[in-house]
Amino acid sequence: MEIIIMPSDNEVGRYAASLMAKEISAKPNAVLGVATGSSPESTYKHLAQLTSEGLDLTNIKAFALDEYVGMDLDHPESYHSVIRREVVERVGLSPDNVRVPNGMAEDIAAECADYERDIKESGGVDIQLLGIGSNGHIGFNEPGSSLVSRTRIKTLAPKTVKDNARFFDGDESKVPVHCLTQGIGTIMEARKVLLVAIGKNKAKAVAGLVEGPIGTFCPASILQMHPNATIVVDEEAASELKNTEYYNYARDNMPNWQRPETLKA
Ligand code: F6R
Repeated sequence: MEIIIMPSDNEVGRYAASLMAKEISAKPNAVLGVATGSSPESTYKHLAQLTSEGLDLTNIKAFALDEYVGMDLDHPESYHSVIRREVVERVGLSPDNVRVPNGMAEDIAAECADYERDIKESGGVDIQLLGIGSNGHIGFNEPGSSLVSRTRIKTLAPKTVKDNARFFDGDESKVPVHCLTQGIGTIMEARKVLLVAIGKNKAKAVAGLVEGPIGTFCPASILQMHPNATIVVDEEAASELKNTEYYNYARDNMPNWQRPETLKA
């Protein structure tokens, strides 16, 4: 696991976008896993910049992590809408190449099985972008989720409802209670994972992810078992980490060939 601490949200996004661009340049038909929420916004901003400079996304496919259940797909805060705004319109992926779980499906179990099948038939996710909840969730796999779970319906934790109320005029009663989410087992099958975290509110979760015991209490801690995980955080999100001297030393001594293109010395 590689821990990259950057001075600001903007630098987190620049680093993460350049890692994604490296993947896309090496494999022009790569399959991306895409997240919603605030954390990846600066990553999408920089990826859009790289696209405008010639990064070719024509044959890139993407799968979203999750979606609210029972929310109209055209609602501005549905993840269909967020992915359309942030990933299709902003970054420039073709809408036909992007799949989001359908939280309005009549048969939720069948939709989850279809989602798993679609990911598999695409060849699997090459690089999965993740945020982290303040309670340590990845996707919407809340504390207590099975570490080998697959795409399924979940109940949002009250803490997540509270955190996400900011997208719904601060009104917790407007936040859906249920969601569809890729499981932890599904996420762990991505060939690479790239998690971004910004701000003090994420410091405890990031410490649990990187240095805590592996367990369902902090679902993100399972990433310690992933063979190719990069965790990119700002200084506030890193503020409860203990081993920062080593993480910074490793970052500063990263071989040039291993650095993302845009950050080469
Ligand atoms: C979003 C997702 C969630 C968020 C997490 C952090 O698709 O799966 O795990 O990444 O809730 O959200 P923000 O970035 O808004 O703090």
